[in-house]
Amino acid sequence: KLFMREVLKRHAIPAPSYDAFKNRDEAVAYLEHHHYPAVVKADGLAAGKGAFVCHTLEEARGAVDIIMKERRFGDSGNCVVIEEFLEGQEISILAFTDGTNILPLDASQDHKPVFDGDEGPNTGGMGAYSPVPAITHRLYQKITREILVPTVHAMNREESPYRGILYAGLMLTADGPKVLEYNVRFGDPETQPLLMRIQSDLVPVLMATADGALDQADLVWRNQSAVCVVMASGGYPGSYETGIEIAGIAEAESDKQVKVFHAGTANPGGRIVTGGGRVLGVTALGDTPEAARERAYGAVAKIEFEGAHYRSDIAHHAVEPMRSFPAVPEA
Ligand code: AMP
Ligand code: GLY
Repeated sequence: KLFMREVLKRHAIPAPSYDAFKNRDEAVAYLEHHHYPAVVKADGLAAGKGAFVCHTLEEARGAVDIIMKERRFGDSGNCVVIEEFLEGQEISILAFTDGTNILPLDASQDHKPVFDGDEGPNTGGMGAYSPVPAITHRLYQKITREILVPTVHAMNREESPYRGILYAGLMLTADGPKVLEYNVRFGDPETQPLLMRIQSDLVPVLMATADGALDQADLVWRNQSAVCVVMASGGYPGSYETGIEIAGIAEAESDKQVKVFHAGTANPGGRIVTGGGRVLGVTALGDTPEAARERAYGAVAKIEFEGAHYRSDIAHHAVEPMRSFPAVPEA
């Protein structure tokens, strides 16, 4: 995380302010003068569990101790990064790049906390949708111009040219979009609704990405919304059992606008059973965000496994603002 923050800083790419510490006492001394909330992160990989949004000094000290004293994430916790807390809506922009050209995909939005209303601990992602009404054409262009293109150039100037899929996790702040994180892989579950919306063949785009010919590739998008609801094992993101039989997938997929993506499943002796925390990504298309959401939840209702749980408010940002718009007065 420190490496990424330093690259962004060197190239003036919008991101939260931060400091980093290799010593526990120095980190705590710094936190005594920080304003709250503050974000404390393990520098290395931590299976999505290494970032702590801390509302008080006590919480922040606790986070530093989990990372550096308890060493919950092993060597990933040799260094902590302490960041300014950014307020706003979190969105994901994925873009193909061949190192020179970029082909950004439509915006999507994940839902990280485990419970409705963004309550509870963070997960790998409990559901996603695309497109995101909050991302206007102008904002999308600003993100491309100020974040994606400068990042691809930065990697070239750092003599680390990148070809592949670039995943930007962004916060839409009052000050404009800022980078929370970068991944060099597809987002899960963001990719499920994106794939449902892509009408053209993906393979030529992948080939062009690898061959440095992305300027000659394009994608055709369905003018529809897609919503993915993740069905998770009982107990996830804590501990959970596996090997539980799953019923109803074929019934859910009898609607051609529905696709059930397997994530944590296994197939012993021809049966389909749970095999991980996030089990299925139940994804549906619809002509509006409301229609896609209704279809996705209709499909979820047909699927059963013991202990299954899911959020019932996926895509609420896309749906509620519309519901709460005042009625347009008759002319
Ligand atoms: P990360 O592991 O860095 O991707 O962070 C995990 C999650 O913590 C993000 O998806 C955000 O929800 C939250 N988060 C991380 N950094 C910040 C920040 N600087 N301000 C606000 N929220 C953050
Ligand atoms: N959905 C979050 C991720 O793929 O990292």
